[in-house]
Amino acid sequence: MNKICELLNIQYPIIQGGMAWVANANLASAVSNAGGLGIIAGGNAPKEIIKEEIRKCKEFTDKPFGVNVMLLSPFADEIIDLVIEENIPVITTGAGNPAKYMEKLKKANVKVIPVVPTIALAQRMEKLGADAVIVEGTEAGGHIGELTTMVLTPQVADAVNIPVIAAGGIADGRGVVAALALGAKGVQIGTRFICSEECSVHENYKNMIIKSKDRDAIVTGRSTGHPVRTLKNKLSKEVLSMEKEGINPEEIDKKCVGSLRMATIDGDIENGSFMAGQIASIVKDIKPCKKIIGDIVNQVKEIMPNIDL
Ligand SMILES: Cc1cc2nc3c(=O)[nH]c(=O)nc-3n(C[C@H](O)[C@H](O)[C@H](O)COP(=O)(O)O)c2cc1C
Repeated sequence: MNKICELLNIQYPIIQGGMAWVANANLASAVSNAGGLGIIAGGNAPKEIIKEEIRKCKEFTDKPFGVNVMLLSPFADEIIDLVIEENIPVITTGAGNPAKYMEKLKKANVKVIPVVPTIALAQRMEKLGADAVIVEGTEAGGHIGELTTMVLTPQVADAVNIPVIAAGGIADGRGVVAALALGAKGVQIGTRFICSEECSVHENYKNMIIKSKDRDAIVTGRSTGHPVRTLKNKLSKEVLSMEKEGINPEEIDKKCVGSLRMATIDGDIENGSFMAGQIASIVKDIKPCKKIIGDIVNQVKEIMPNIDL
């Protein structure tokens, strides 16, 4: 049996990325009901908001689902307590090192899968007792590291003994096959799931992904030390030119405050931050999560008929 399926008690080794302002109970339950692992994104939200999403998700599915804990969130401590109280079987962690929570989580039998951008961090996570690691390449949507999925996946797979999950640039069966060939045991997918029927973001967001071309997912924030991949629009172009002019990082950050909400909720095409990965341009339709996962699995099986997926 596939190691990730065994670890997480799921049918397919496909994890839906925790995406702040995007990954709520609707999306997470749809992915879990389709045989993957749905994830509710903690983002910067307080405990009560996430508790409500968890309660809804439990109503919508009897399958396992997880929570993504953004370690930089001012509410990270209380979200960790919440996942323990709510018996959530697995968390993924972003933006930092979950070391200080590890003992508590292990005691409560919560599986911990950190997202890592380097080999060194993957090895540190293994030593800490992580159950698997998600290696996220720079192709991904949202906050990114430097290395690509193509180079990071095999190097981390060689460097650790825990299972590796590849993320960044995967949106169809070919991407999954490539990830498996590189040594991953599973994949995490973000951008493709934004264009699902069950994803609650504004339709402008989904349409921007569908209309995007190969070079439209650009990186801003390299100069401020917080690179983030979003679709090209008025905001990202303005941020890029502010960076080129050497405007101070605080002013640039100020310009972006609330911009993810403007994209996901308001659908503000000009001023929103439409986080999406380089694979966005391969996404051409909006379909139910069951069909997204079914199509991926069928394509994997066409390419690798003997695979045990
Ligand atoms: C809109 C958006 C928001 C994201 N927010 C988070 C987050 O809050 N925490 C996190 O660990 N990763 C976050 N990510 C990264 C995803 O979980 C996932 O790893 C990534 O989307 C995979 O790459 P792909 O977009 O090429 O599929 C976000 C990605 C997107 C597109």
